[in-house]
Amino acid sequence: MRRPIARGGRRGVGGLALAGAAPPHPRAKLRYPVPSVFSSRLSFDLRPNRLTAALARLGEARVPVDDLTESNPTRAGLAYPARLLDALGGRAGLEYDPQPFGLMAAREAVAGDYRRRGIQVPRERVALTASTSEAYSLLFKLLCDPGDEVLVPVPSYPLFEHLAGLDAVAPRPYRLEYHGSWAVDVDGIRRATTDRTRAVVVVSPNNPTGSYLKRAELDALAAHCGERGLALIGDEVFAEYVLEADLPRTASVLGQRQALAFSLGGLSKGLGLPQLKLGWMAVTGPDDLVRQALERLELVCDTYLSVATPVQIALPSLLGDGAIVRTQIRERVARNHQALAEAAAGCPAVGVLRAEGGWHAVLRVPAMQSEESLVLQILEKEHVLVHPGYFYDFPSEAFLVVSLLPRPDVFDRAVSRVIARIEAAA
Ligand SMILES: Cc1ncc(COP(=O)(O)O)c(C=O)c1O
Repeated sequence: MRRPIARGGRRGVGGLALAGAAPPHPRAKLRYPVPSVFSSRLSFDLRPNRLTAALARLGEARVPVDDLTESNPTRAGLAYPARLLDALGGRAGLEYDPQPFGLMAAREAVAGDYRRRGIQVPRERVALTASTSEAYSLLFKLLCDPGDEVLVPVPSYPLFEHLAGLDAVAPRPYRLEYHGSWAVDVDGIRRATTDRTRAVVVVSPNNPTGSYLKRAELDALAAHCGERGLALIGDEVFAEYVLEADLPRTASVLGQRQALAFSLGGLSKGLGLPQLKLGWMAVTGPDDLVRQALERLELVCDTYLSVATPVQIALPSLLGDGAIVRTQIRERVARNHQALAEAAAGCPAVGVLRAEGGWHAVLRVPAMQSEESLVLQILEKEHVLVHPGYFYDFPSEAFLVVSLLPRPDVFDRAVSRVIARIEAAA
């Protein structure tokens, strides 16, 4: 996840609870409103929040901070093969062959990677993008008019508000509910669907709850989307990071044909290579709808042609050789998740919520004080950075979110300090 604490007021950049009540335009309060030169899409709260400010103060004082929110795999002490990027330097990259959906060999490599996971999708239904974030933006352009709505899960990834807002689309929350494990509130999705709803986003496994979409949920959502003419967007960037092996889960939104659906993935999470800027989407659904979607999407992609040639050429070898990085990340998150569970087991005040997959863990902590004040204490007194649940729009307090990526020595040291601080505060 990217910098959710870099900006934003009390609610970070999440704030989906506010969705619908669009923030007032910065100039709206003036008696004679002066038309702003800037788009109202950017009327996000740009002030640094208290956590960002505290972090900056520690940085200025050169106090080292253990970052338990680190989700950049290139900073997690993984052993990337030294020659992994050699394929980017070949002479073939000197030729520019602009293709809206990307070079066919690269699209075939993505289709092959889906096959490796037991998912069939023809390469003609694969489109390359520069990232998953960009894929969202391309899909919002394909599916939505300004002011249309997309249903997004809460708690979830805080960037949705920005991704949707920048395309003049309104994110509307639907709930994931926790009863010992997380479940999609399918009835809530039905109720939240309006004439302006264009798509339902599912994140599987979700960031930060780690919950996979279950078969029955996919069937219900596919039926609903099919009936109401909505698209299903499946963010599957963490799909391969399974923490509970024998869990019945869906592999992909591609496992249904009732609704027009897009499966999103990419190198950023799939191989721990966010800097290469290559993602993809694969399309399924009723054939005629897929054909129409691809025709239109081709125009959108052709307008930007945003994926660099060398990384497309390198993709087949990256998907093969990079698997070693994925294995390391898988081992790392599983190891850290286990260590967290063991550390928390000795502390009745801290509960680790069940996580089925992904790179994050959620701690339930006593709500004796606000999440904000707890994370500030943890930062200022223990020099450990964790995220408060409200950044992800948890419906109530108090939750903390930690990344499972950090190096084990850093992770263990930081977790024990967080737990000690929670015990001291409880
Ligand atoms: C659930 C989820 N989807 C998408 C992304 C963005 O991926 P990309 O780096 O490909 O834009 C993130 C980043 O943290 C994420 O957590």
